[in-house]
Amino acid sequence: MITGGYGFIGMYVTQRLLADRHEVFIYDLLPNTPEGFEHTVKIRGNLTDQKTLFEAVYANKIDQIINLAALRNNDSKKFPYMAFQVNCAGFVNCLEAVRIFGLERLVYASSVAVLGNFDYYRQGGYDLETLYRLPENCAKQPTNVYGVTKLLNEQLGEQYSKIYGMKVVGCRLPLIFGAGKKGGSKTSVFNEMIELSYHGSPVEVELREERFNIVYVKDAAKGVYCGATAKDPQSGVYNICGATVDMLDYADAIREILPKADITLRKKPGATTPVNTCIDSAAAREQIGYTPDFDLRAGILDHIGLVVK
Ligand SMILES: NC(=O)c1ccc[n+]([C@@H]2O[C@H](COP(=O)([O-])OP(=O)(O)OC[C@H]3O[C@@H](n4cnc5c(N)ncnc54)[C@H](O)[C@@H]3O)[C@@H](O)[C@H]2O)c1
Repeated sequence: MITGGYGFIGMYVTQRLLADRHEVFIYDLLPNTPEGFEHTVKIRGNLTDQKTLFEAVYANKIDQIINLAALRNNDSKKFPYMAFQVNCAGFVNCLEAVRIFGLERLVYASSVAVLGNFDYYRQGGYDLETLYRLPENCAKQPTNVYGVTKLLNEQLGEQYSKIYGMKVVGCRLPLIFGAGKKGGSKTSVFNEMIELSYHGSPVEVELREERFNIVYVKDAAKGVYCGATAKDPQSGVYNICGATVDMLDYADAIREILPKADITLRKKPGATTPVNTCIDSAAAREQIGYTPDFDLRAGILDHIGLVVK
């Protein structure tokens, strides 16, 4: 059962599981079944409603939950109480469902937002090489409500697995680009750069010097899929990485595919484009078999193909 299965990442995870002939139940607030998802069982429910969630798990003999339902960064900032309800209390409902019904595992999406910003690590004496390859167990200092809720997921997941011997697998995802991402967030700029360039419109974005990690959505979904299907993953959190680049690299990759792209990168006072710390996914490669299928250029090309369709 995938909570939030009709969301941006959930749809790709679902497609991957269906292609692999898994039976997929989608637990989501959305009333309508999106096109192409007719082979899933839709359960309309709120993650915060424990009774409905438990009934859905029990009645459908669910063996595993993939929890992707969450409020993302912007909404968590606007509605912190609701972010706590969905991202934290809703997450505990999933843990409890796994505990009570003896499910095989819980897989969930965490975020690099648990880590905090670049300066925190720079001041902490990390050298640049380490800074661009932070491992799962590095110190964490989230700087927003969203990151705090995700850190609670990681830490509570660890406690449940210690106390009850449950399998709880977190996939810590970086910035993501790809077709279907909800607009309106600061990270939409990475999709906009591709899409505006494709349509021949000029695009001006803020130039940041720091490097960041960005993954194509099909690889983010692959990471979650690997967490769900790996034979015997350890409980814990796995970094799911894409490419570590800076804004210039990202713009160049777009220009390579779309030579007429009119992208201007400009330093701006009061910079707002988020730049996340980078992570290293050696553990995911070794323990759950995750490696990205798309390098940056292949991801951009695939994204263009899907948008044009
Ligand atoms: N998109 C990113 O860039 C990104 C990066 C890192 C981590 N993540 C994490 O990955 C997961 C999926 O993100 P996404 O981008 O697909 O999000 P999304 O907002 O596109 O999708 C979330 C889905 O959850 C559903 N949902 C929301 N609240 C619910 C509730 N209370 N009960 C039931 N369903 C509910 C929504 O209807 C939606 O279908 C989230 O946990 C998010 O925090 C996303």
